Order: sequence, then structure tokens, then C-alpha cells
Amino acid sequence: MDIRPALHAYLDWPAHHNPTRAAAAAVVEALAGAAVELARIIAAGSLAGIGGESGGTNPDGDRQKYVDLVADRLMRDALRTAPVAAVLSEEAELPETLDADAPLCVAIDPLDGSANLENNISVGTIFSIRPRGYDIISTFFEPGTAQCAAGCFIYGPQTVLVLAFDQCVDAFTLDPRTNQFVLTARDLQIPPDTAEFAINSSNRRHWSGAVRGYIDDCLAGVNGERGHDFNMRWIGSLVAEAYRILVRGGVFLYPADARPGYREGRLRLLYEAHPIALIMEWAGGAASSGRARILELSARTPHQRVPLIMGSARAVRDVDAAHQTVEPLFESSDAPLFARRGLFR
Ligand code: F6P
Ligand code: MN
Repeated sequence: MDIRPALHAYLDWPAHHNPTRAAAAAVVEALAGAAVELARIIAAGSLAGIGGESGGTNPDGDRQKYVDLVADRLMRDALRTAPVAAVLSEEAELPETLDADAPLCVAIDPLDGSANLENNISVGTIFSIRPRGYDIISTFFEPGTAQCAAGCFIYGPQTVLVLAFDQCVDAFTLDPRTNQFVLTARDLQIPPDTAEFAINSSNRRHWSGAVRGYIDDCLAGVNGERGHDFNMRWIGSLVAEAYRILVRGGVFLYPADARPGYREGRLRLLYEAHPIALIMEWAGGAASSGRARILELSARTPHQRVPLIMGSARAVRDVDAAHQTVEPLFESSDAPLFARRGLFR
């Protein structure tokens, strides 16, 4: 007997007890249907005939590929069939109202890391679900603690759904024979300690003293303050980094830095940091901006960026502690504008 339930059975079970839960389950199922189609397109690669750039840019100025637009359309169409009042997507400037009477709002990154596609590296869809407030649009500007569920699809060697639902984080693998997501890992728990970090170290000269101090300690290994050697990973694909951390622990940093456009980090709060932070916390890990818990932050604008430090709880705590004790942001950066002999000193 197969004891691994398919997504539908998993979501269906106690749905009738709680209307918000039932509505969130319907959203997850709708997105899963779209993800099956998107996984098929991504797996076909250039054979799907949607390679290349569309010529447009998203609201943040990133160049859009055709596949970004296809992903956006697939996810939006799916959400129209679910109880969703409004959707905010990375690919559009403003939230779109779908069914004003519906109980939920969804923020979504339809295809995160699409720049990785030509290299055949994992990419993903990230989503955040929250109950609709009295005013639909203001719902998106509530803190991340307002989320009732979140998740991400990872299109990699396997297509996997990581789902934060009912305070638990579970993983489902797409069975290509049946096109069903099947529960393959229950109640994921991130180890509290780690000896693995992930950061784009080509930006080192732009970092604040806090981030540089923390990473320098990791690099010092047994001779440094942490007292043990570290391994490093950087995939450049948020969903893949998050999944690695869920499976074997680790800490990921995309800090703010001194470059123009990076003063609030690179990642977006509403459809990247908030949902990934919910996954981290419900799996026993943590997520912080270095100065505040990500889930307590509210966006001021739809595409607001935020520094993100996530993963094993003790490592995130150590990075937070470095931010408390080291001088304010960027004062010790080597970047010309902020270096000791720079314009602002
Ligand atoms: O959101 C875009 C994204 O591709 C994330 O998936 C990833 O974590 C990050 O940007 C990679 O940044 P960089 O190009 O600086 O390595
Ligand atoms: Mn993204």
C-alpha cells in the first residue's frame, strides 16, 4: 500500500473545519496545477520555443524573458479559479483584483531565478497567502505574520513543492507518471547549528562591517571565533538555496550593501522574503534582516526589497548579534562612497 498521500488528499482532510484553511488549500491546489504545466515547459527548455528575452522589463527593471511572462500568465490564470481577492506578482507594477469578495490575497514570484535557466540550474515559483483584510490592497502591507500559508515550487532534477501549511513544512515531489504531487518529506526541521554558509562573496567590498566580520570568522574556520571549519555554497537561485537549508541546514545571506540599488538588499519582501521566512520559521529555523525578524516587517511599496539572512537558528542569531555590535551599516565598506577616504567621510 502506498502510504504517501497525494497533495489533494493531504489538503482535503480537515478542510471543512476552517474556512480560511479550506480556501488556502484551494489556492495551493490551483497553483500546483499551473506548476505541473510550467515544469513541463521548463523541462523542454529551448524545445518549448519560449527561450530568449521578451524585450520588456519588470517593475524593478529586471529584463523579462518570455518564460517569465508565460509563468506569470499560468499562475494568474490558476489563481482566477481559486478564492483569491487580489494577486501581486513580481511581473506587474500593481496588485490585480480578481474576485473582490474572495477571502485571500496572494503575492507571487512566478519564476524566480529565471536568469539561471539557460545554465540548466534549478528555478522556482514562490508564493505567499494571506487572509484578505477589509481593504484588499492594504492586505499586502501587513507584516509577514499575517500569512496563513506559503510555499515554493522548485523546478530542478525533480519538481518539488515545499509547503508551509498548518504550522508545518512538508515537501511533495511531482510524480511525472501521474502529474500528481506526492508527499515525500513530512515536518522538515532545520538543524539549529550549521557549518555551511551561502553568500555572493563577489560583493564583499560593498558589505557592512557586520557581514564582513561574520563571513571572515567563518572563513577563519578552526582558528576563528566560531571554532570550526565552514563549507560554502552559492547557487544564485533562492528556492534551491532554501531547499538545501531545509534538507541539511546552513545559513544564507543576501545583505544590504553599498551599491546603488542594493541599500535595502536585493530580494523582495512580499513574494520572496516573507514566504521563505515563513517556511524557515515553521521548519524551526529563522529569518532576519540582520536588525529585525522578517515576518515582523511590512512593505511600504509592492516591490520593496529587504536584506535576508535565513537558515539555522543559531547562525541567524549570530549574524543578528554581529549587527548589534558592529558599527552602523556600510561605515566600514570598501566601496568608494563609504570607504574611509570616500566622499561621505
Ligand atoms: O531574485 C533573484 C535571485 O536570482 C535569487 O533567486 C537569488 O538568490 C539572487 O537573485 C542571486 O543574486 P546574485 O545574482 O547577486 O547572485
Ligand atoms: Mn525573484
